[in-house]
Amino acid sequence: MRSAKDFFRPLAVGAPAPVREVPFRPSRMIHFFDPSNERMAAKVPAIAPTVDVLLGNLEDAVSADHKEAARAGLVATAKAHDFGDTQLWTRINSLDSPWALDDLLTLVAEIGHKLDVVMVPKVEGAEDIHYVDRLLAQLEAKAGIERPILVHAILETATGVANVEEIAGASPRMQGISLGPADLAASRRMKTTRVGGGHPGYLVREDPKGLLGTEGEMELPRLTFQQDLWHYTIARMVDACAAHGILPYYGPFGDIKDTTACEDQFRNAFLLGCVGAWSLHPVQIDIAKRVFSPAPADVAWARRVIDAMGDGTGAVMIDGKMQDDATVKQCHVVVELAEALAARDPELAETYEAAYKEQEQNR
Ligand code: GLV
Ligand code: MG
Repeated sequence: MRSAKDFFRPLAVGAPAPVREVPFRPSRMIHFFDPSNERMAAKVPAIAPTVDVLLGNLEDAVSADHKEAARAGLVATAKAHDFGDTQLWTRINSLDSPWALDDLLTLVAEIGHKLDVVMVPKVEGAEDIHYVDRLLAQLEAKAGIERPILVHAILETATGVANVEEIAGASPRMQGISLGPADLAASRRMKTTRVGGGHPGYLVREDPKGLLGTEGEMELPRLTFQQDLWHYTIARMVDACAAHGILPYYGPFGDIKDTTACEDQFRNAFLLGCVGAWSLHPVQIDIAKRVFSPAPADVAWARRVIDAMGDGTGAVMIDGKMQDDATVKQCHVVVELAEALAARDPELAETYEAAYKEQEQNR
């Protein structure tokens, strides 16, 4: 076992020191593009300023005969553009594939100083993170990179879920974890062929209206409600991430046309503690932006509670609702997130200010 004292030492001579805290940078949407697709790559300069994170995808959805073109395309795109405040991430191929090693060797050497985060798919345990951790340190040292490239794991195997706490705490490089509902469904042998979202067969049904077996009883309609197939996994992932000071994300929602269900899935994840989701199509960018930015009325309310709570101890009543040391902490969560997002988004900042002013005027 490594001594706790060594945890924050670089894993290679000349590599940058690990971060002590995951820097919070807005990452409401991680926008995927396929760098082997020239049409898509050409749109990158226009899309980059509209998203928090731009991710060059090298793994699934890039066919085997396009893997090298995707890697080269990402290098070319990163070299050709300055993305400003927008983070640049990549999803490398899985560690058991023939491409993962070359992905890391090439990307760190060529564009390591521009890459913020490497997303690693199909992570099963801490050993996968340790492998990437050491390799990144060696490559950073070799390339003279001055700040560590962070690592993001996709939770998409049953073994990964069983080990999610150790994955979250495996390295100071760990930035966050995303749910990968498609691979996870396959790994668990779940019987859904959808990418995220609910399923009409996964439901609860209200009780029959009278005694079972009475004549005509079974013909009376009984309401059903779809349940969330992903609740358990998201909640477990959020706890693992929060316990280790890293960030949880919902992953992909595959039904691009069903923007309503996408918004619902994103919002469930947001309410449970996630900070963002993947956008697979431009139509999902605004959904993620809307959902993962706290609502202006909630932010205004949270500010009112904080104002009223003074030093944060004791109890006060606001509009008939009890506030105390715990609720003020809940409000700080909302306000801190709103402020971090507003710092980069003047339009959002104005919306928050206007909602607060309106609330104060109407009191
Ligand atoms: C994402 O990679 C997924 O498998 O859902
Ligand atoms: Mg996957």
